Amino acid sequence: MPKYKIGWMPGDGVGVDVMDATRIVLDKLGFDAEYVHGDIGWEFWKTEANPLPDRTIEMLKNVDAALFGAITSLPKEEAESALIPELQGKNHVYRSPIVRLRQTFDLSTNLRPCKAYSGNPLNFKDDLDLVVFRQNTEGLYMGVEYHPLPQDVRNKLTETHPAQMSRMDGVANEDIAISTRIFTRGGCQNIVRDAFEYAKKFGYKSVTVVEKPNVVRETSGLMVREARKIAKDYPGIELWETNIDAMCMWLVKNPQDYGVLVSSNMFGDIVSDLCAQLVGGLGFACSGNIGKEVAVFEPSHGSAPKYVGMNKVNPIAMMLSAKMMLDHIGESEMAGRLEKAVAEVIAEGKVRTYDMGGSNTTTEMAEAVAAKC
Ligand code: IPM
Ligand code: MG
Repeated sequence: MPKYKIGWMPGDGVGVDVMDATRIVLDKLGFDAEYVHGDIGWEFWKTEANPLPDRTIEMLKNVDAALFGAITSLPKEEAESALIPELQGKNHVYRSPIVRLRQTFDLSTNLRPCKAYSGNPLNFKDDLDLVVFRQNTEGLYMGVEYHPLPQDVRNKLTETHPAQMSRMDGVANEDIAISTRIFTRGGCQNIVRDAFEYAKKFGYKSVTVVEKPNVVRETSGLMVREARKIAKDYPGIELWETNIDAMCMWLVKNPQDYGVLVSSNMFGDIVSDLCAQLVGGLGFACSGNIGKEVAVFEPSHGSAPKYVGMNKVNPIAMMLSAKMMLDHIGESEMAGRLEKAVAEVIAEGKVRTYDMGGSNTTTEMAEAVAAKC
C-alpha cells in the first residue's frame, strides 16, 4: 500500500496543466502516494450548480494532504447563464470553492513563501525571502453581508452608531450594502503564533504585523494587541507594526528589510500578491491552506482561461506548492530535493517558460526539473 493518500484536485483551465507537470516531478522524486481525484471547479458549477460537490468534501476527510490546481470563476450574471438550462433561474449562487474549502475545513492559516531564486530574470531584487501568513477564514471573507440592508440591522446600527448612521438618512435600504469584517481573538492569536513559530524555526529576525489599527480600530486593533502579547514569548524576534498602505510602499522600496509578515484575510490577500510579484509573479507564488485535519496546497494563480490547452504556463508555483506539502507531511528530504531542482533549473536559465522570457512549454519545464531530482 502506498505510504500516503493525496487529494488530487486539478480544477480547470491551466490547473490541469500545472498539476500534470507536478506529477511528473513527484513521480521522479519517488513520492510513494495514492492520488485520489476530487471534482472541483467550473465544470461542476455548470452541470450541478455546485463547484465543490459533497463527494469532494468527503474525499478530503480521508487524505493526508491535498493539491489543488486552479479554477475559473466569473461574475454573477455570467455564472448564471453558464448553468445547464434545467438549473437556470433557481437562485443558485456561485461561491468560490477555494474560499468554501478554507471555511469548511477551517484551514485557518494561509502560508505564502515568496523567495527570489537566483537567476530568475523576473526578480525585483535578489536575495528576497519573504513569508506571508494570512488569516484564511475570517474577516471580509466570512461572507456575512447584506444587500439590501435589513431594517432591523439598520435599527441596531442606528442605536449603536447614531452619528455615522445619520449621514445616511434618506438613503433607502436597497441602496446600502454592508460587508462585515469579523475577527476573533482566537483567530488573531493563531495566525500570529504560527508566524512567530515559523520565524523561530527558520531564523527570521522580525515578524511584521500588517494592519490598519489607526482607522479600523476594533478588528485591526485586536490583531495588533494580540500580536504584542504573543511577541513577548519570542524574545529574539522583533515585532514590527506597519499599516497596510505603508507596507505596500516599503515592500517596493526596501523589500530586503522584511522577513515574516502576518495579516488578516483581505490585507493578506493583497500584500501576498505584491510579495509574489517581487519574486517573479504568479508563476512562482505557492501557498498552503493549513488546518488541523487537512491541508490544501495550491499555486496562487488562477485558471488563466486564455492559455488553456496551450501547455504554456509556468508550473513552478504548483511545484513549489507540492514542495510545501512534502514539508507539511514530514517528507523534508524530498521537499529539499524538489526545491533544489527547481532552483537549479532557474539558475541555469536554459529552460524558461514564456513569463520568464523563454519559449519552453509547461511539460518541458517539468521534465527539466524532474531531470534534476
Ligand atoms: C487567493 C485568491 C483567492 C482569494 C480568490 C481566488 C478567491 O486571490 O488565493 O489569493 O481571494 O483568496
Ligand atoms: Mg489572492
